[in-house]
Amino acid sequence: MDFKTILEAGNIEGKTVLVRVDWNVPIENGKVVDDFRIKKTLPTIEYLQKAGAKIILISHHDSESENLQTVYEYVKGFLPLTFIEPSDLMLLPNLRMEKGEKENLRDLAVKLASGVDLFVNEAFSESHREYASIVGLPKLLPSFAGLQFNEEVKRLSNAFYPKHPFLFILGGAKFETKLSLIDKFLNIADDIFIGGALANNFFKAMGQDVGDSLVSDGDFGLKEKIQEGKIILPIDTVLDGTRIEDAGPKTIENLKLRIESSKFILWNGPLGEFEKSYKTGTLELAKLIANSEAETIVGGGDTLSAIKELGLLDKFSFVSTGGGAMLDFLATGTLVGIEALKRI
Ligand code: 3PG
Repeated sequence: MDFKTILEAGNIEGKTVLVRVDWNVPIENGKVVDDFRIKKTLPTIEYLQKAGAKIILISHHDSESENLQTVYEYVKGFLPLTFIEPSDLMLLPNLRMEKGEKENLRDLAVKLASGVDLFVNEAFSESHREYASIVGLPKLLPSFAGLQFNEEVKRLSNAFYPKHPFLFILGGAKFETKLSLIDKFLNIADDIFIGGALANNFFKAMGQDVGDSLVSDGDFGLKEKIQEGKIILPIDTVLDGTRIEDAGPKTIENLKLRIESSKFILWNGPLGEFEKSYKTGTLELAKLIANSEAETIVGGGDTLSAIKELGLLDKFSFVSTGGGAMLDFLATGTLVGIEALKRI
């Protein structure tokens, strides 16, 4: 893997370990409403506790008005955590409030590293960001990957050497951010199903009228990609006026057959406009993949919401904590946060 995990750090009894977690979790009405990412950091924290280390946790929250007090209130229900107050397990305030985090300033990394013996990156889902807490700290401290971080790299890498038939399902919007992923997996997957607003660009490229549907600007050479014969598109859609909002039942039926015959399935992104509650296609897809015998790897914000809504989290071989980080890793095979750990 080219980087060391925390299991390879030797004796850490009495050492102070700075652990970068991603507790950027959804908060509604002053309460944490989804603890998936928090739960995934617990094995690393428990390992360090058992090994006798003193732990300082750092995280960002993308709401800059959230200093992490809300997250602290939630986590202290099951961990002996303090907030800012020194202890064996202490959480520091939202990194985004610190000048220099996003700018990757060495001064901030030096401040965070002061009095610390080791750094652990347990924030795979933030490791596509060239920020001080991700790439700056490994320059200053002996650095290791957390257990979930390591698992993310290992399991997502299976998509580069998959069992076949390999079905890649990509939904959501923002074509420009997913094009490199499509290009990469045209060479690896047997079939690529494109859903969500991404499919609208393909429909448009084939000369179909997409009415008011959401499309990304640009041509992207899609006609040529379709000609490679691996791309599958929805065969029916749910409309609101002339706007395509979801994949239809025939599409799901068609996908069912492909899912049943696949040995490896990678899925990211919803099939419908989730924010407007067009969830049926995505929920049906989640059920089909959950029942599959294949190795199943899934991730992404709306994808995870669908899986959680159905209570199917433990029915997949691997559920990534990453959104953008998962996509970047799959497209390029690495992340800046991974490279930073390798230098050590
Ligand atoms: C995420 O939610 O995907 C990560 O926490 C990254 O958050 P960011 O996009 O605010 O860096």
